[in-house]
Amino acid sequence: MPANARPRRAGLRGPPVTLCAASDSPPRMSKTRVLTGITTSGTPHLGNYVGAIRPAIAASRAPGVESFYFLADYHALIKVSDPARVQRSTLEIAAAWLACGLEPDKVWFYRQSDIPEIPELTWLLTCVAGKGLLNRAHAYKAAVDKNRAEGEDDDAGISAGLFMYPVLMAADILLFNAHKVPVGRDQVQHIEMARDFGQRFNHLYGEHFTLPEAAIEEQVATLPGLDGRKMSKSYDNTIPLFAPRAELKKLIAGIVTDSRAPGEPKDTEGSALFQLYQAFASRDETAAFARAYADGIGWGDAKQQLFERIDAEVAPLRERYEALMAKPGEIEAILRDGAARLRVQHATPMLRQLREAVGLRDLSTSPVAAADAPSRREAAVLPVFKQYRDADGKFYFKLVQGERVLLQSVGFASPRDAGQRVAAIKQGEVGDAASDFMLGEGVTEDEVNAALSAFVAAQLEGTGGPG
Ligand code: TRP
Repeated sequence: MPANARPRRAGLRGPPVTLCAASDSPPRMSKTRVLTGITTSGTPHLGNYVGAIRPAIAASRAPGVESFYFLADYHALIKVSDPARVQRSTLEIAAAWLACGLEPDKVWFYRQSDIPEIPELTWLLTCVAGKGLLNRAHAYKAAVDKNRAEGEDDDAGISAGLFMYPVLMAADILLFNAHKVPVGRDQVQHIEMARDFGQRFNHLYGEHFTLPEAAIEEQVATLPGLDGRKMSKSYDNTIPLFAPRAELKKLIAGIVTDSRAPGEPKDTEGSALFQLYQAFASRDETAAFARAYADGIGWGDAKQQLFERIDAEVAPLRERYEALMAKPGEIEAILRDGAARLRVQHATPMLRQLREAVGLRDLSTSPVAAADAPSRREAAVLPVFKQYRDADGKFYFKLVQGERVLLQSVGFASPRDAGQRVAAIKQGEVGDAASDFMLGEGVTEDEVNAALSAFVAAQLEGTGGPG
């Protein structure tokens, strides 16, 4: 695949348009790319498992999805300055995802710092990112507010890394033209920023980036921790996912409850113990547990039942986890292999294209000379729509680029119908693509996306752009 035929979206106005799956329709010509990053700053706990690992692995098995999972170790450096902890956390998180069933030959599984194109793209995006926008990032603003409240200088103790966090995250996403990024509400702003940087870059240099969408996980359970607040490292109330049995039991015994005695009916509402049980149990088991509450089960018994239920699900995973942790070299090899393949297939050609786009070019090919080279000339020929009437009396259009027919329409009843469809496509409204046109022979969806992008970009230039 030539470097300049990467999938792109053609969008003139409104939400990005693509020939591949729209958010609410099944994938048609290509897969939806779903990308997830996990910061390697802690030890996986039950909350991570229920809220992220378990649903993400289930989602990766859905048809029509190309999944990207990566260990965001550059992001970890923003908050952790203990090297041993970064290394340990990276190993634990990688082992946890593998133990829970992630299949590294079916999904992209890699470590951020194994892809040098990510920091390289971070710089290209830094140069288009608005500083004012970064000033408004929640995490940075919270740090400034705290300084103010404490009478400190605004930026006291704030690293440029924290400030630049959203740009690095945008590079993670835009490098692979991800369509969807499943995130919690706290990360939505980061996805908006990635869209903003991507859009600015596209406006300046042509349509290179797909603008990602946040897939907000509303229905994903947030698990309560030992003290009843959300399970989170920052509250120090977590239960490690792979705590040994005895430790798991001890931690569960420490979950806060009220002081009702055995025999007294208990409330399921607001009971951390009950919510934890529910996250691991079937509907029937949960109903039975609720009845036990109403019947006055003692807290000791309830905790024993919770322990058994969690351990039943976690024990086989724990066994795999321990086996993996005993062979860190294998995990290292899996991660390196994933990154190496991903670089060849996506990252390296994408950066080659981006470097060219911004003018980081081979000096021996002057812009004019480059345009004259035969391979370039073809790329430089703008696609055009041609309309015609065929022998069957119907009206057709096709999208041609040089000699190639990229798209061929079905027959329309009137020239007006065909013309309106063409006008809509020119505006980036591809819509339900497969229904009224098809790809030319030997043409890939990527090529069409690229041609339409060029089309839209040329229109933008012609009108001076949206300004
Ligand atoms: N910021 C994310 C978090 O703290 C981790 C992350 C880094 C990420 N890069 C990403 C998530 C790209 C999604 C996409 O959870």
